[in-house]
Amino acid sequence: MSGEAKTVTVTGAAGRLGYALLFRIGVGRLLGPDTPVKLRLLDLPHQMRALEGVVMEMQDCAFPLVESIDIFDDTKEAFDGTNSAILVGAHPRQIGMERADLLEANARIFADQGRQINSHAAADVRVMVVGNPVNTNALIAASHAPDIPKERFTALMRLDHNRAIFQVARRARVPISDVKRVTIWGNHSRTSYPDITHTLINEKPAIEVIKDPNWVEDFLIPMVSNRGSMILEARGHSSAGSAANAAVWQMRDRYLGTPPGDWTSAGVWSHGEYGVPEGIISSFPVTSDGANWHIVEGLEIDPFSRVRIDASVAELVEEREHARALGLL
Ligand code: LMR
Repeated sequence: MSGEAKTVTVTGAAGRLGYALLFRIGVGRLLGPDTPVKLRLLDLPHQMRALEGVVMEMQDCAFPLVESIDIFDDTKEAFDGTNSAILVGAHPRQIGMERADLLEANARIFADQGRQINSHAAADVRVMVVGNPVNTNALIAASHAPDIPKERFTALMRLDHNRAIFQVARRARVPISDVKRVTIWGNHSRTSYPDITHTLINEKPAIEVIKDPNWVEDFLIPMVSNRGSMILEARGHSSAGSAANAAVWQMRDRYLGTPPGDWTSAGVWSHGEYGVPEGIISSFPVTSDGANWHIVEGLEIDPFSRVRIDASVAELVEEREHARALGLL
C-alpha cells in the first residue's frame, strides 16, 4: 500500500445496502489495493447505535487499507473533506411502488446533500447516487452543487448493466468474461433499455451468436427492467448485495479505468449525445480513463433501439418536470 489516503463518505451506512458496501470498500475494491481509505459514515440519529455495531465489525476485519472510520448524523460533517461520496441513504421502495414513486420522499434528501457536498467536500470530489429514483436524485444533487462540474455526478446503472451481461452470457452459454460492450440506455426503471446491438460475444456480434431476433424484446428487456421488482417481491426487501457490488464496480471503473476494448454503462450528465435531451442524467455507454467518464461516440442506433431510448429519456424528462414542480430544481 503506497498511495495517499482518500476520504470516502457513505450515506445510509447502517442500512442493508450500506452494510454490503462497506466491507467491499474495506477490502480495497473501490479504490484499488494501493489506496488507503478514511471512511465517514452517515445515517439518521436513531441509527447511530446500529452504526456503532457496523464499525465494530469493520474494526474486527483488521482491514490494512482502512485508516479511520468516523460516524455522523450530521450531513455537513459527514461530507467534510470527502473525495468520494456514495449516496445510498433514501427511503426504500416498498412492494407495489415504482422507483419514480419515491421522488417526493427522497428528492429533498439529495438537494440537501448536494448543497453540503458543494460547501464541504474536497476539490476533487466525485459523487455517485445509489438511492432511487437514482437518475433524478443525481440530477437534483448536481443542481444543488453549483461549484462542482456536473460531470462529477453519476447515477448507478451498473446494476442493470450486470443484470444484462449475466442474461446474455447465460443465453449464449459462455462465461461472463466473453461478453463485452453491453449498453444500458436511459432511466433505472421499467423503461431502461438493455441494448446488445453492439455487444460482442467472444469478439463476434451477440445478435449472430444468439440467433433469436425476438429474445431481446421478449426476454432480455422485461428481465432487466423488472429484476429489481422480482427481487423485492422475493426477498421482501430491495436488492442489497448486487446493488452494493454494482456501486463499487461503477466507482472502481471511474477511478481505475474501464478495460481496453470494452465499455460500461453509467448514468451521466447529458450534453445532448445521441439525441438525449441536455440536462438530465441518463445512462449511456461510457469508458473511463481514470480521470473522467467519456460517452462512447459514433454508435449506430437502429430504429428498434431509438424508440426505446426515446421512451426512457422521456420518462427522465417527466421526472425532471416533477422535481421542478416540487421546487427542487
Ligand atoms: C434494483 O434495481 O434492484 C434497485 O434499484 C432497488 C429497487 O427498488 O428496484
